[in-house]
Amino acid sequence: MSKIGNIDVGEFPLLLAPMEDVSDPPFRALCKEQGADVVYTEFISSEGLIRDAAKSRMKLDIYEKERPVGIQIFGANLDSMLQSIEIVEKSNPDIIDINFGCPVKKVVSKGAGAGILKDIDLMVSLTAAMVKHTNLPITVKTRLGWDHDSIKIVEVAERLQDVGAKSIAIHGRTRAQMYKGVADWGPIADVKNNPRMHIPIFGNGDVDTPEKAMEMRDKFGLDGAMIGRASIGYPWFFREVKHFFATGEHLAPPTLEERVQAARKHLQMAIDWKGEKLGVFETRRHYTNYFKGIPHFKEFRTKMVTSDHSIDVFAAFDEVEKEFSGFEFV
Ligand SMILES: Cc1cc2nc3c(=O)[nH]c(=O)nc-3n(C[C@H](O)[C@H](O)[C@H](O)COP(=O)(O)O)c2cc1C
Repeated sequence: MSKIGNIDVGEFPLLLAPMEDVSDPPFRALCKEQGADVVYTEFISSEGLIRDAAKSRMKLDIYEKERPVGIQIFGANLDSMLQSIEIVEKSNPDIIDINFGCPVKKVVSKGAGAGILKDIDLMVSLTAAMVKHTNLPITVKTRLGWDHDSIKIVEVAERLQDVGAKSIAIHGRTRAQMYKGVADWGPIADVKNNPRMHIPIFGNGDVDTPEKAMEMRDKFGLDGAMIGRASIGYPWFFREVKHFFATGEHLAPPTLEERVQAARKHLQMAIDWKGEKLGVFETRRHYTNYFKGIPHFKEFRTKMVTSDHSIDVFAAFDEVEKEFSGFEFV
């Protein structure tokens, strides 16, 4: 049984990874319904929160039904990170997660995200100060290291634990790798096998089949799997993994009706949350995956991703349901 602070997250939890422009409240709610045990917001800039940037503030919205939920923040300035904790606390999340893994230049160049992997002392002192500043559990998401020659994740994880981090999720790539190559779970297992470690260590990177999740559990001995890309437009991935764990068999993929229903629900939740215009616009990126595998789908897809009004998108869903009823996904 894994615990993040006092939060019981069950045996080998599946965590929805924080993903910019993806892990918004509607998507998190769908993943939760399909079996995600813990969900995270996308990363939120501590500087943006302090400036009261409306866009950053909106990312703090959470639904009761998605708990336990972690709000992820990033930054490299101690004062800003501490001030942003106070803002984040008002949203009443279950967890505050620190992003020490984002590889993109505009974040890294300010020493934030994976940029902090070049200054482990700062990474540890920031974490320590944040732990002291809140009663909520502080968790960390990071990468193996800055580059191949500077991987010290076993030592780093131990230091983060010692200053009070309540769990660590590790993406099995270095910053230098960005998203290239294959995630290496070996060093994550080394962290877990360190006899001094007692907080949960979650593995992340390339879990895109139930077998891989099982390997992360049984071969690498990790405490849970954090899942990102495999869930984009496919929230059913969580239930498929759980079914495989429970039975050793693959669950049949979702039916067309289930997919249409999810798309409708997603769009409706998005509109309820951020209004017609943004809701329609920001849900578009999910449809391709929802309906992946249907031949000659272009005409329908085009309608879904080019219509500016929800009424037209909902009409396109109805057409899809009628046209492809009974289609067998493999
Ligand atoms: C579109 C996208 C956005 C992401 N945004 C974030 C983010 O905001 N915070 C973060 O910690 N990681 C972010 N990541 C990294 C993921 O959380 C995860 O570490 C990475 O995708 C590897 O896991 P996967 O192979 O299961 O996708 C993002 C990844 C993607 C694909």
